[in-house]
Amino acid sequence: MLPAWPDSSVSTWPSAYWLVNDYYDVRLKEARLAQLANASGHRFLKLNLADRAGMKALFADHGIKRVVHLAAQAGVRYSLVNPHAYTESNIEGFMNILEGCRHAKVDHLVYASSSSVYGGNTHMPFSIHHNVDHPVSLYAASKKANELMAHCYAHLYRIPCTGLRFFTVYGPWGRPDMALFIFTKAILEGKPIEVFNHGKMKRDFTYVDDIVEGIIRTLDHPATPNPAWTGEQPDPGTSSAPARVYNIGNHQPVELLHFIEVLEDALGKKAEKKLMPLQPGDVPATYADIDDLANDVGFKPATPIEVGIPRFVKWYHVPPVGDDHERTDDAALARRHS
Ligand SMILES: NC(=O)c1ccc[n+]([C@@H]2O[C@H](COP(=O)([O-])OP(=O)(O)OC[C@H]3O[C@@H](n4cnc5c(N)ncnc54)[C@H](O)[C@@H]3O)[C@@H](O)[C@H]2O)c1
Repeated sequence: MLPAWPDSSVSTWPSAYWLVNDYYDVRLKEARLAQLANASGHRFLKLNLADRAGMKALFADHGIKRVVHLAAQAGVRYSLVNPHAYTESNIEGFMNILEGCRHAKVDHLVYASSSSVYGGNTHMPFSIHHNVDHPVSLYAASKKANELMAHCYAHLYRIPCTGLRFFTVYGPWGRPDMALFIFTKAILEGKPIEVFNHGKMKRDFTYVDDIVEGIIRTLDHPATPNPAWTGEQPDPGTSSAPARVYNIGNHQPVELLHFIEVLEDALGKKAEKKLMPLQPGDVPATYADIDDLANDVGFKPATPIEVGIPRFVKWYHVPPVGDDHERTDDAALARRHS
């Protein structure tokens, strides 16, 4: 369910704009869209972020004042296979978002960054005040580039920009290329699951509803300059420009093997684990310091995997017939195409 729009002066949801590309089965994306069909004020336009003229017209025609930009080429491993998808969507596309925001003089741009920007950092928890100049995948580099580009536009044109570094988002309607989907499907089919870094992985898994709440609350708190910022000792997380970043993570790193145990309990079935080495581009652990988000925005994600994973499994398991036909169909669709 979408939460209520928090600002009563805004009577409509901003339109959602994202290309239904085929990184994964578009029928899952269409099924998600169908959930929004009756959402008040929601409008869907199919538009490539990299289409410069189309993006210019989008901002010129729609009187956009606040932007939540989530569309991107996601995925660490795919960036080793198809790097140009990342430069097209995440660099060219993000450039068009910034130009649109500049000409529309938007009040606030909130955009998705990623925990992957921490790359080679090992000091935990990961803090926005740490230097993040050592990405280990092109995906991470593209997200870090977004933060730099946004800072530049905040400095030059005083556009308030907030980058949100999401930490391993999971939950109903999630991405089928992510571990929870892949593990669930394999376990149910009695197939082995590949457990990378021999299970010695930790992830700060963050439930999707917490991400949504964090985005909406942040949108209502436009970025402002930090008066204490100094170029003598530049703080990477804030600026003399209205630009900042926040971590949105659960602040609870979970061992991958424990994650699998909780999934096994929710499914009522044991996994056959195939232990594998760390994948190129992956990092062994993530752990979010969320003090800045909590202090500035007044919100901390708090859904444990013991709650979130069973919710995902319940959604995944919706039987092919039932009382709620619309949801049943969509869930069955998502399951078939994961
Ligand atoms: N899911 C996670 O764990 C996670 C973690 C960190 C950051 N993020 C970021 O959060 C955002 C949402 O991720 P998600 O997991 O929902 O991924 P997703 O792939 O489900 O959603 C991204 C959407 O962007 C669209 N898109 C891609 N290129 C486009 C283009 N050129 N033009 C228009 N639309 C385009 C895709 O069609 C897709 O619908 C992304 O920016 C991602 O990098 C996600």
